[in-house]
Amino acid sequence: SSIESQVREVLAEQPLQEGALLPLLHAIQERLGHVPPAAVPLLAEHLNLSRAEVHGVISYYHFFRSTPPGRHVVQVCRAEACQSRGADALLAHAEQVLGCAAHQTRADGAVTLEPVYCLGLCASSPALQIDDQMHARVTPQRFDQLIAKLEG
Ligand code: FES
Repeated sequence: SSIESQVREVLAEQPLQEGALLPLLHAIQERLGHVPPAAVPLLAEHLNLSRAEVHGVISYYHFFRSTPPGRHVVQVCRAEACQSRGADALLAHAEQVLGCAAHQTRADGAVTLEPVYCLGLCASSPALQIDDQMHARVTPQRFDQLIAKLEG
């Protein structure tokens, strides 16, 4: 499949090194937007690991998605500093406004909502990222404005 050949391309481009699984997973997700299940046997063969080992790493790191993301990706920080300043409420608000549960892509494919763990904006929490853009001190109102801009 074309997904398989894209994964093979990524594998061919990367130097083979000790502990190469994480950099390869990052490279695959960067290229394809997710790490497709078809990548698992290819990675296992490439790195001489079992499929279970590869799968275990992918599911351990929340960062890696196994399905394609929506057209927009909304990532709400849930690490400590943001937690202490309303991240839970912000995520609940996001779920309600977007009509999409955390870790899910909305049925129309417009948006994926993901919890993340620290965006480096702890001093200005709560923080979130929409596509490539980070936003600090996000109130529910600010969230609504950002989303309105996105869809408008
Ligand atoms: Fe949320 Fe660091 S804890 S940005």
